[in-house]
Amino acid sequence: MPPKIREYESDAIIVRFDLKRCIHSEECIKGLPGVFERDRKPWVDPSQGDADGIAAVIEQCPTGALTYSRKDGGAEESAPERNYATVAADGPLYARGDIELYTSDGVEKHTRIALCRCGAAHNKPHCDNSHKDIDFKHDGAFTRQPATAELGGPIEIHLRENGPILFIGNLQLESSDGSHSMLCSGQTWFCRCGHAENKPFCDGAHKQVEFEASGEAPESRQV
Ligand code: SF4
Ligand code: FES
Repeated sequence: MPPKIREYESDAIIVRFDLKRCIHSEECIKGLPGVFERDRKPWVDPSQGDADGIAAVIEQCPTGALTYSRKDGGAEESAPERNYATVAADGPLYARGDIELYTSDGVEKHTRIALCRCGAAHNKPHCDNSHKDIDFKHDGAFTRQPATAELGGPIEIHLRENGPILFIGNLQLESSDGSHSMLCSGQTWFCRCGHAENKPFCDGAHKQVEFEASGEAPESRQV
């Protein structure tokens, strides 16, 4: 387990928290204020709620900072039937689905992830709210001819060294205000340097700006 992941346990559920992936959107605190309480130590106390309710709130965490395992035989989190990605205005790319994130250390399975689009995150490829520090601007809208796509199946996420993020698989892409939506299949390249004219898609601008995904080892397997 990565060192920053903390565990909080009751008789019924284990809650895991990855501090480096939390961007303080507070769905947890708003959803179950007795279980998640910012100023309490420990800030997560799963004995203050029932396991079904805790699991439901955790599944609203958009970054995947919170995950859980059931001890009471209740259902574990499963991927939705179709993969979704939402382009947040002035913020990250939120993806939900049967996600396989390819890293230099191997393949990580996720159901929820928030990916940096501005190029400034210190925890790439994850968002860490650095878009606020650099005043990143993009309204989340996009234009592209929709493809005919099957729905569902795994979605692979590959990190290009000092370049874009490649999604391989079927995906429903939406803008955060719901005004833009399209189906993607096959390969979809998303900008993560923050400089593409064609956001959220990559248009090669990372080369001109000499984008560096510092600290991120390149994936050994190239697709
Ligand atoms: S819902 Fe997730 S990202 Fe939002 S504050 Fe809670 S742990 Fe952090
Ligand atoms: S990653 Fe931004 S243009 Fe390619």
